Amino acid sequence: MPTIRFEQEGQQVGCIEGANLRKAALDAGINPYKGLNNLNNCGGLGQCGTCVMEVLDGMQNLSPRSDVEEVYLADRPANYRLSCRTSVNGDVTVRTRPEEGVGKGSNSLLGALKSLVGRK
Ligand code: FES
Repeated sequence: MPTIRFEQEGQQVGCIEGANLRKAALDAGINPYKGLNNLNNCGGLGQCGTCVMEVLDGMQNLSPRSDVEEVYLADRPANYRLSCRTSVNGDVTVRTRPEEGVGKGSNSLLGALKSLVGRK
């Protein structure tokens, strides 16, 4: 059974293999969203880019970055993930709501649209 360690909250939870990272956080009472994004998010459909988590350890135990993540996280470090698009297959340590995680550059609706049409 994989273990997810939530570094900021000092909490660790077990999950089934293939569990959705965002849902596992919510089930554990951990909020993946910052500020107004608690109201302004897509509910895990991969359409808002607000559920970002930073992977501190165990990146190899997660599903590969999806196409949606490549768009929303184009100018973010490779260890930033959209938690709603990420499956957990082994032990991992994550930081929820990382600084610079949301709302700038590619990680915004405008940024994502610009990436799709190839403009900076
Ligand atoms: S919750 Fe909207 S992209 Fe993850």
